[in-house]
Amino acid sequence: MSVYLNGQFLPLADAKVSVLDRGFVYGDGVYELVPVYSKKPFRLDEHLRRLQGSLDGIRLANPHTTDGWRELILRLVELQDFADQSLYIQVTRGTPVEGQPPRDHAFPKGVPPTVFMFSQPLLTSTPAQKAAGVCAVSAVDNRWLRCNIKAISLLANILLRQQAVDVDCAETVMLRDGFLTEGAASNLFVVKDGVLRAPPPSNLMLTGVTYDVVLELAAANGIPHEMRAITEAEVRGADELWMTSSTKEIMAIVKLDGAPVGAGVPGPLAMRMDGLYQTFKLQVMRV
Ligand SMILES: Cc1ncc(COP(=O)(O)O)c(C=O)c1O
Repeated sequence: MSVYLNGQFLPLADAKVSVLDRGFVYGDGVYELVPVYSKKPFRLDEHLRRLQGSLDGIRLANPHTTDGWRELILRLVELQDFADQSLYIQVTRGTPVEGQPPRDHAFPKGVPPTVFMFSQPLLTSTPAQKAAGVCAVSAVDNRWLRCNIKAISLLANILLRQQAVDVDCAETVMLRDGFLTEGAASNLFVVKDGVLRAPPPSNLMLTGVTYDVVLELAAANGIPHEMRAITEAEVRGADELWMTSSTKEIMAIVKLDGAPVGAGVPGPLAMRMDGLYQTFKLQVMRV
């Protein structure tokens, strides 16, 4: 497998970084995950814009222009021998150099960031999984207040997600101060009486590229929708609850904390939205 590291395309086994890299020692970096269909990156500009936002959020200069990123990404995509890919981009604050303290919270001066990218086969949810839906558990969102930054330090998300995994569920639905925020690795939507609702973008959640696409598709197809704060009672009383992400796409949550969501099966709007999303993807692949 060919990966990209700091200006070079090389075999995975040859890609090496220092153990003093800020990503390794502090989790000091940001990332993106771009789905690639038939070797066409999906919504690349949007992902690169979100990457810029994350870099700005951690005060790290972007090492590449948008065109520069695009060129590197397309080259990495072409080097893989599989068509549908999950392309991971990571930028860390680099490695302290000789004469600098090996470990110091303060940003190291004059150090180039570490840029690492690799691509693996994309495993989206299968039609059978979508038809069945998944179960989820709820938990208090105990993460920091800058969840709009796609930070590589994912320990809180990992611990929250594991609560779901421990009981054979797919996701953890997070609530902060009685309001819905997002999933441990996804955004969440609820449907009530035919209206699609999602929490508005804020520092308390990561605005998913899939989240944006879902809202655009709702607008383009006359599906009533609104972005507003959603209470825990509204989550538990919803007709439908969805998780969305680049890899899960639109996935119905049919059971929350052991109780059925709505009718306990994927709802009609989830299935409609998944159809719209698949059509939208096909359009992108033809570009
Ligand atoms: C915390 C969190 N929220 C939301 C998302 C969904 O983002 P996207 O739709 O861009 O995959 C992710 C994706 O991994 C995530 O980790």
